Amino acid sequence: MRFNVFKFALKGYFMQKMWFNLLVSAAIAAVVGYYWLNYVKKGPIYESDKKLNGKTVLITGGNCGMGRLLAMDLAKRGARVVIASRNLEKSNKVKDEIIKESGNREVRAMQVDLEDFDSVRKFAKEFDESEKYLDYLLNNAGMVLEGMTKYGINRIFVVNYFSRFLLTNLLLDKMKKQSAERPVRIINLISDMYKYVDFDESDMTRDSSGFMGPFIMYGKADLADVRFLQNLTRKLKGYDVTAQLFNPGYIMSEGLSTYYSFRARMLSHVLIFLMGQDAYHGYQPYLKLVLDDSLVKHKGGFFNTWTHEEWLPHATKESAWEPLMRKSLEVTGLSST
Ligand SMILES: NC(=O)c1ccc[n+]([C@@H]2O[C@H](COP(=O)([O-])OP(=O)(O)OC[C@H]3O[C@@H](n4cnc5c(N)ncnc54)[C@H](OP(=O)(O)O)[C@@H]3O)[C@@H](O)[C@H]2O)c1
Repeated sequence: MRFNVFKFALKGYFMQKMWFNLLVSAAIAAVVGYYWLNYVKKGPIYESDKKLNGKTVLITGGNCGMGRLLAMDLAKRGARVVIASRNLEKSNKVKDEIIKESGNREVRAMQVDLEDFDSVRKFAKEFDESEKYLDYLLNNAGMVLEGMTKYGINRIFVVNYFSRFLLTNLLLDKMKKQSAERPVRIINLISDMYKYVDFDESDMTRDSSGFMGPFIMYGKADLADVRFLQNLTRKLKGYDVTAQLFNPGYIMSEGLSTYYSFRARMLSHVLIFLMGQDAYHGYQPYLKLVLDDSLVKHKGGFFNTWTHEEWLPHATKESAWEPLMRKSLEVTGLSST
């Protein structure tokens, strides 16, 4: 009898403890879930009533993902928006959607393939000759790819670095001239992978395979972009042209689901599920960087989503500039910058 009472009391104690544990676990899960859903999966929405009438914005890769949302937003603010990427049919559809929704007819779709330097040259010439101004150059198109280009250079390096280098330099005179009357912004999209890598010339001529290979190569191309824009910032002293770099974070976008290699897609989906956001939330800090003139003071600066961040020391290594610029001229066929 005494034994049964003891057993009953013990059972009651454990039942109580179990309920207590369950309640505590549920409360912790609710707090973590709330934080995850509201602060990790979503973020702040940037609000500004700034208008951009009379300004011209060029967004490479403006037909999907964050570029497309930005193109729509800037068109609604009155800007003349030029979107440029490979698929002209798709870009024309997006152009029509933007015109319809924004009521702004100053939207243009152009074709450029950043894997092909001839296409970049043709595009830059056509843009330069047909557009009076370039107030915002958004080097937005970028990809995590596998394989090599016809130049014997890794595809990631060509799309995410060399073509941006070429396009920016081909349009630089236009931007410099114009900057006497009106300021110019250049914003290149990168990731924070640049922090974990370094590169040498042999990386550029190497295919990136394996699970992490393309991401590591992507970081190396980002780092090249960082060094290029820092060097450019030095050269642009005295001109009202501001070059900056922006990391949107982990963002689910159409391109990621469509173009990335199978392995890159798998890894990205897992990371983005855990700590990423949708393109709508991803483009909010991007929009702020474009619109907020107070950020112009960070010339050659890095914006890690909402925050201006100092560069890690290896990214500001000036001794790496000259060899990179020499290689970039050689690869793209430019005679000088
Ligand atoms: N999503 C992320 O998590 C994340 C993270 C860090 C950095 N970023 C960078 O942020 C930028 C925008 O990312 P997103 O995810 O919004 O873009 P996205 O949805 O993947 O779209 C990429 C765009 O680039 C264009 N494009 C791709 N290859 C091209 C080429 N060879 N020539 C010309 N255009 C090309 C595509 O259009 P076509 O197919 O018509 O050419 C498309 O408009 C990219 O530079 C990306 O690398 C993204």
